[in-house]
Amino acid sequence: MNDAIIPIKWENDQLQLIDQRVLPQEYNWLSYNDAPSVAQAITDMVVRGAPAIGITAAFGVVLAARAAYEQSVSDWKNIIKKDMDLLAASRPTAVNLFWALERMGLCIHTIDTNPVPVLLSEAQKIHEEDIQANKTMGDLGASLLKDKCSVITHCNAGALATGGYGTALGVIRSAWREGKIERVYADETRPWLQGSRLTAWEMVQENIPVTLLCDGASAHRMKQGGIGWVIVGSDRIAGNGDVANKIGTYHLAIAAKYHGVKVMVAAPTSTIDMSIKSGVDIPIEQRGADEILSLGGKRIAAEGAEAWNQAFDVTPANLVDAIVTEKGVVEHPTAEKMVRLMGQ
Ligand code: MRU
Repeated sequence: MNDAIIPIKWENDQLQLIDQRVLPQEYNWLSYNDAPSVAQAITDMVVRGAPAIGITAAFGVVLAARAAYEQSVSDWKNIIKKDMDLLAASRPTAVNLFWALERMGLCIHTIDTNPVPVLLSEAQKIHEEDIQANKTMGDLGASLLKDKCSVITHCNAGALATGGYGTALGVIRSAWREGKIERVYADETRPWLQGSRLTAWEMVQENIPVTLLCDGASAHRMKQGGIGWVIVGSDRIAGNGDVANKIGTYHLAIAAKYHGVKVMVAAPTSTIDMSIKSGVDIPIEQRGADEILSLGGKRIAAEGAEAWNQAFDVTPANLVDAIVTEKGVVEHPTAEKMVRLMGQ
């Protein structure tokens, strides 16, 4: 068992992130000393994955507070707002970002001395709680797998996408330890290839058998049999259980329904946005066309072709068999069940 993949750390008074853009060919840590650079790192995909983005932003607030307090002991709470806005604008879909900023904001209200120790401890708490939540979800999700089977996952919802251990890959890690996983099929996940670069890397580290699928191959693979579950993470879950996740998740869920394969979404409650009634209202990130038209910095598409690069899609709740959170499992999600889960 490799619990050692932790993509975010605070060391030598600075934030350090594994550069996920160059994995697995290179394993580099990058250092950050100010909030605007942290916001840029999130936008640029140095760090990605909903919970990891939230944790990173929380540490970004620590850096923002340090700079603001150095500038003015009396006015730092006003000065910090500009950096908080920059962090909030770094990516739109993963609600964990806004959840973490709100939690750090509440903490700021309570401080009347040097903010750094208190905010650092809050950011570290957010990080530790996320790892714990993933381990709980791992156990809960694994218990849903009755017979040994193969599973399909999409994008990377692993240790790299979280504080550590992973959401969907956390379930897979726990189920593997319980002898319930035959093989993991990982969609490549164009255009950033989180599946072939990151998910496959995480699985190989732990000797969990992994086979890559071209995006779009999953329906054909399901037809051959042996796939018990699709297991994915999420960037935002609406109040009715609709699930936003990496583009391609929706058609994976449709294919699963057709073939009698079950769909599990593993996500901490920090990914649930009860202020949004349904998936229609989830803001979907539109990224640059170049990410699709080029590969490895080289143009591959025909000159003159355009590209539509929505980074996420929304899977309706009625295609989801189970949402697994650290607070419990919601089978066949509905608005009423989500309210019950969130204790509202
Ligand atoms: O664009 P990314 O790489 O940030 O997208 C990540 C995903 O879609 C993950 O599946 C999601 O954030 C869940 S991570 C535990």
